[in-house]
Amino acid sequence: MKKLLSLMMALTLALCSAAASAQTPAWNDIQGELKAALEAKADPARGAGAFQPCEGCHRKDASGRMSGAYPRLSGQHATVLMKQIVDIRTGRRTNAKMEPFLDEHVLTPFEIADLAFYVQGLPISAANGKGPGTGLAKGKQLYDKDCAQCHGVQGEGSAPKFYPMVAAQHYRYLLREAQLIRDGDRRNANPDMVKVIKAYGTGDLEAVSDYMAQLAPPKK
Ligand code: HEC
Ligand code: HEC
Repeated sequence: MKKLLSLMMALTLALCSAAASAQTPAWNDIQGELKAALEAKADPARGAGAFQPCEGCHRKDASGRMSGAYPRLSGQHATVLMKQIVDIRTGRRTNAKMEPFLDEHVLTPFEIADLAFYVQGLPISAANGKGPGTGLAKGKQLYDKDCAQCHGVQGEGSAPKFYPMVAAQHYRYLLREAQLIRDGDRRNANPDMVKVIKAYGTGDLEAVSDYMAQLAPPKK
């Protein structure tokens, strides 16, 4: 009996470590649930229903909160939304508050796709939480040098490359995420971005977030 138990434990351990190494792909590997969601034939109308449980925090229009506690999701690229949802589900990005709403038992990859295309189609409000406005010149200089090549000159991001739109996002959310990325606490981040942000002091992060938050939402 004892022997059987230790055999089972050894087997469980082996399985766990196999799962752990399978869970550390490159930041943008398209596999598993992300692949299934990207390949799904999405129906935005169905997504409106799937989005309902999210509205308590992200609001009905998906504009989030000016305080930055909850990000704006409306108008964000569907690919970015799908990647972030899957990353949170698989534990590559930590979000304890939201996990119960994203659990495998609650949402299928097909529903993730429906919901992402629904939210992408919602209009972007320019009434987002802005920064102090004192760091704009410095923020623009840093942004154009270090961030624009991925997040776009207008903050529009890139759907095929999974680069988030940062224009008109809430200032406090941007600042928090930039800090998490710099300090290595957002584990799904693009390593090239981590390299540039590593050297940033708090003043730099505040200035660049100030600048991103006031960029006008891209015209659709
Ligand atoms: C209990 C509150 C809560 C609920 C409900 C909730 N979220 Fe969130 N969500 C958050 C918070 C907080 C964050 C930001 C976490 C952080 O700071 O990293 C977030 C972040 C996100 C992000 C990342 C956005 C980005 O720009 O990277 C996505 C995508 C998202 N939520 C989708 C959803 C969807 C879809 C649902 C419903 C199925 C949902 N959320 C329900 C609190 C919530
Ligand atoms: C090499 C491309 C690249 C560069 C350069 C880059 N980023 Fe990013 N950024 C990304 C990607 C990709 C993500 C989404 C990461 C992920 O999948 O988790 C991201 C996410 C973010 C987020 C979180 C957005 C959200 O909605 O949650 C912030 C804030 C951010 N970047 C700020 C910056 C700033 C500030 C700079 C310049 C100092 C910068 N980035 C440079 C690729 C880049």
